[in-house]
Amino acid sequence: MRSKDNTTRINQANKTVLITGAAGGIGRATVSLFAESGWRVIGVDRSSFGDDFPGSGLFIKADISEPQDLEAIFTLAQGFSERLDALVNNAAVQIAKPLLETSVEEWDAVMVSNLRAVFLAVKLAFPLFKVAGSGAIVNVSSVHAVATSANIASYAASKGGLLALTRAMAIELAPDGIRVNAILPGAVDTPMLRAGLSRGHVGDGSLPERLENLANKTVIGRVGKPEEIAHAIYFLADETQSSFMTGQALIVDGGATARLSTE
Ligand code: NAI
Repeated sequence: MRSKDNTTRINQANKTVLITGAAGGIGRATVSLFAESGWRVIGVDRSSFGDDFPGSGLFIKADISEPQDLEAIFTLAQGFSERLDALVNNAAVQIAKPLLETSVEEWDAVMVSNLRAVFLAVKLAFPLFKVAGSGAIVNVSSVHAVATSANIASYAASKGGLLALTRAMAIELAPDGIRVNAILPGAVDTPMLRAGLSRGHVGDGSLPERLENLANKTVIGRVGKPEEIAHAIYFLADETQSSFMTGQALIVDGGATARLSTE
């Protein structure tokens, strides 16, 4: 940890964050929040972002399921900024189908993007964290890590694994001043959520009806907004707010997991 009188102590304006899945629903909101807060943002996604990526940042179009792409991402990141203060592992895929109908290829595709890529990204990010002297990793898991439903087994398994990986990383990286926490969002209105509503868990009505059914299942009575997850990610990334937290799971789900499903 840096001492208060350390003259190399940086202000927020010099901090750099790398966010995967930057072009998705939660990713875009997270890119905006960090940029508005003065961070230099490196965004990564295999989909295009469009023209509105923050001017002070860098967008890299790449596929994190490919180890060589991940190596190229961190080479480019190092060219952009010699240091990294936060890494947000947010990219993921979801396959919504019965376990017995899931192929080996589909199972592997979920594990590779949602779990292996996080392991590799952290290995590749480590030298950049060392330059910074400390840092924070935020792994975007899911409430499916702790309670789940039918037809989403591979995704639930990947998110449970990510939670276990978060704890393991927190223990091994603490000596280097790197905190590692997970965020477990509940239902948040993004393209992934809307695609997953085909699972049948909220009825087979129209899309607005399914969204309404989902909203009614939460304690707060609505689904979340991507910005609400971005704020929780920011909290875990920002040393001034969460410096005594590591290896933890922060659930942001409108109270969905607070209520017994049997009552
Ligand atoms: P999204 O589908 O809108 O965004 C995900 C982004 O990740 C997409 O832009 C996609 O292109 C990118 N991506 C996926 N695999 C990639 C790969 N191999 N390489 C590069 N980019 C890749 O989904 P959303 O909802 O924004 O999800 C963000 C995170 O939040 C995910 O980890 C998801 O599992 C998690 N989450 C979302 C919830 C929700 O209700 N929306 C609930 C719980 C967790």
